[in-house]
Amino acid sequence: MDADALYADVIDKYSRHINPHLAKLMAFAGFGVEMRGEGCYIYDHEGRQFLDCLGGYGTFSVGHRHPKVVEAVQKQLGEMALSGKAFFSKNAADLAEKLAEITPEGIDYSFFCNSGTEAVEAALKFSKSVTGRVKIISTTESFHGKTMGSLSVMGREKYRKPYEPLVPGVVFVPFGDVDAAIAAIDDQTACMIVEPIQGEGGIRIPPDGYLTALRRACDKHGAILIFDEVQTGLGRTGTMFACEHDGVSPDIITMAKALGGGVMPLGAVSGTEAIWDAVYSQNPLSHTSTFGGNPLACAAGLAGIQVIQDEGLVERSATLGLLLKDGLQSVADKHSKWIAEVRGRGLMVGLEFAEDEVGELVVAQLLKYGVCVAYALNNPRVLRFEPPLIISAEQIEFAVDAVDKALVETDELLAMLV
Ligand SMILES: Cc1ncc(COP(=O)(O)O)c(C=O)c1O
Repeated sequence: MDADALYADVIDKYSRHINPHLAKLMAFAGFGVEMRGEGCYIYDHEGRQFLDCLGGYGTFSVGHRHPKVVEAVQKQLGEMALSGKAFFSKNAADLAEKLAEITPEGIDYSFFCNSGTEAVEAALKFSKSVTGRVKIISTTESFHGKTMGSLSVMGREKYRKPYEPLVPGVVFVPFGDVDAAIAAIDDQTACMIVEPIQGEGGIRIPPDGYLTALRRACDKHGAILIFDEVQTGLGRTGTMFACEHDGVSPDIITMAKALGGGVMPLGAVSGTEAIWDAVYSQNPLSHTSTFGGNPLACAAGLAGIQVIQDEGLVERSATLGLLLKDGLQSVADKHSKWIAEVRGRGLMVGLEFAEDEVGELVVAQLLKYGVCVAYALNNPRVLRFEPPLIISAEQIEFAVDAVDKALVETDELLAMLV
């Protein structure tokens, strides 16, 4: 099948059997069919190379198909792929120990699942079980997943509304507003769930001291503090976990995306001994998953964390993140008519446009220049850059230059429309 026929066949099948509306949107933006991923690049059906600055929303921290992760998964595949569920699993044990080592202080236990939303579901369940309370505090514009529990705490009504009634007792407070959070957290509160930096909300960084204030308020009222680090975790923001920036430990932390080493789907919810005791002491099967913690995914997780540590990717994220931010800032200064702000931490950087709909045009222009990005789901004015942490300074320069060129073209395009 030649490239054009393959593309037409895939779009046709998406339209008839997956999601015709999404297919139209993706095709309009100019996305082809992904055929191969390697390092920082994705190759499409025409053999075109794209610098992956979206990175699967932060999944490809060690790049696509890192040889060490692939090797670990292939070795495991030769022995046992999925768990029989009755036996102990060495990989799960080793990965849980590794997470206890790298997560913030006091986080010693882990439950493994397959995605971010499952990790959040578990975190919410555990908080209710431990406290015996129902009130949950979440933040506006937050994103925690799209299954019923996670959706209930999603800070955007557009996604919640069609599925109501959802989990009861959820109260939303503005993200970053200390006073609002303190006023909401009380003796009825089971938990507060928050992203240390909002990803889908548009790479929003709360003021210094925010996480500390939440910690204090939760301690005062015996509420559980959950940090959702599904997107920010494992080096993305220049520290192993984003909450380290504020020196605050949660009671529960959720992870996924980069956890599977960019090769396998893997999520985890990790927490304190007291929480695990409360959840599992009466019923050791209180929360389970058939595929969660399978040997293949855990092999990928262990190898991925090893790569992050061996290749110094946390430090690299901090250093190269500054380079990316500075580069985008100079582009923003040049195109101040279109760009309102550049912000971020480590290799999690957002470019906010001053107007709606410009971002979509820039995404399409960037694709032409061989750079893949996307806008934030809960804030389409913000393009987010979350490239692999192995990205080089030259590749960052290439991306920044492409943004500049894409903005020049978008400017010309919009001038013609006026
Ligand atoms: C902070 C956060 N939590 C949860 C999720 C849900 O993860 P998943 O798509 O793997 O269910 C996401 C996904 O983008 C996320 O960014």
